[in-house]
Amino acid sequence: MTARRRTFAEPSRHDVIADAFSRTAQRYDAFADDHPHLTRMRRKVYDHLLRFAGPGSKVLELNAGTGTDAVALARRGLRIHATDIAPGMLDRLRAKVDRLDLGDRITVQECSFEALAEVTGGPYDAIFSNLGGLNCARDLRPIIAALPAVLRPGGTVTWVLMPPVCLWELGLVFTGQFRLAVRRLRPGGTRAHLEGRFFDVHYFQPGRVVAAFGPQYEVLAIEGLSVITPTAESKGLAKRHPRVYAALRWLDDRLAPRWPVRGWGDFYMITVRYRPGLPPLRCGRCGCPFVLLLDAVADPRPVPVPILEVTA
Ligand SMILES: C[S@@+](CC[C@H](N)C(=O)[O-])C[C@H]1O[C@@H](n2cnc3c(N)ncnc32)[C@H](O)[C@@H]1O
Repeated sequence: MTARRRTFAEPSRHDVIADAFSRTAQRYDAFADDHPHLTRMRRKVYDHLLRFAGPGSKVLELNAGTGTDAVALARRGLRIHATDIAPGMLDRLRAKVDRLDLGDRITVQECSFEALAEVTGGPYDAIFSNLGGLNCARDLRPIIAALPAVLRPGGTVTWVLMPPVCLWELGLVFTGQFRLAVRRLRPGGTRAHLEGRFFDVHYFQPGRVVAAFGPQYEVLAIEGLSVITPTAESKGLAKRHPRVYAALRWLDDRLAPRWPVRGWGDFYMITVRYRPGLPPLRCGRCGCPFVLLLDAVADPRPVPVPILEVTA
């Protein structure tokens, strides 16, 4: 059998993703208009982030998209350096910064989170990534390894990631949409289709992310985002059935911060603190020198939840 000959260079994964998101930029913003459920999700992210990054903090935003969060956070007193690889998304971000006269609080750079050494203006007090942009990465470990180039010691990392377990999507089994229902559980990720472009999306278990950060990072919080309420794709339910939505929201508010639910959902928020040079965290239960899995959510084996504490 002869190998297929390539007559022209195939675009890289980076180019495909940048092109897909550039093409969808206008639609992306339009979808967020009049979407109370997504607005609630974003507010929860801001409340979470602002617990750890106070007013005046210098924040590096990864995969900033069209700048919805950069604008909201700048208005809450943070200074944002917004980065993304999709020029079309960044054009809309820059237009918002100009229109709202936020140039003194938001700077913009076209840059991949897989090339953090190229980021200007560091070190930062916090590194922020919202709504699963990092799920476009195959592996978070090289990104985490590059964080010290842009994050000051004592600074925090707040990432909003898509986990493998999403109850709303799993529930689609009962509507016959089997492939969609189990897509997050597929080993090796899922093929996403956006504006005629295809790329892989990977789902990260919280426990594996904690392990990837390793002993130089202290886990401050993990919280589910839309565990009981629908996924961000659902624009209709909150508007068509406000009482049902209010009941789901009530339950979601109570369950989302609790184990094991906090590692499920459309997304989860994780915040860690960078603490280089300090003694490693040990598991408070067995004393082992490793930062153990905080959440064994998609892992069928029962793993005890360790109580983390600093040991000298
Ligand atoms: C779902 S959007 C999220 C945008 C924004 N964070 C928000 O909450 O609206 C995903 C974003 O990740 C960006 N992205 C994907 N891969 C990236 C990479 N390697 N470096 C930087 N940004 C990337 C895309 O261009 C896109 O703007």
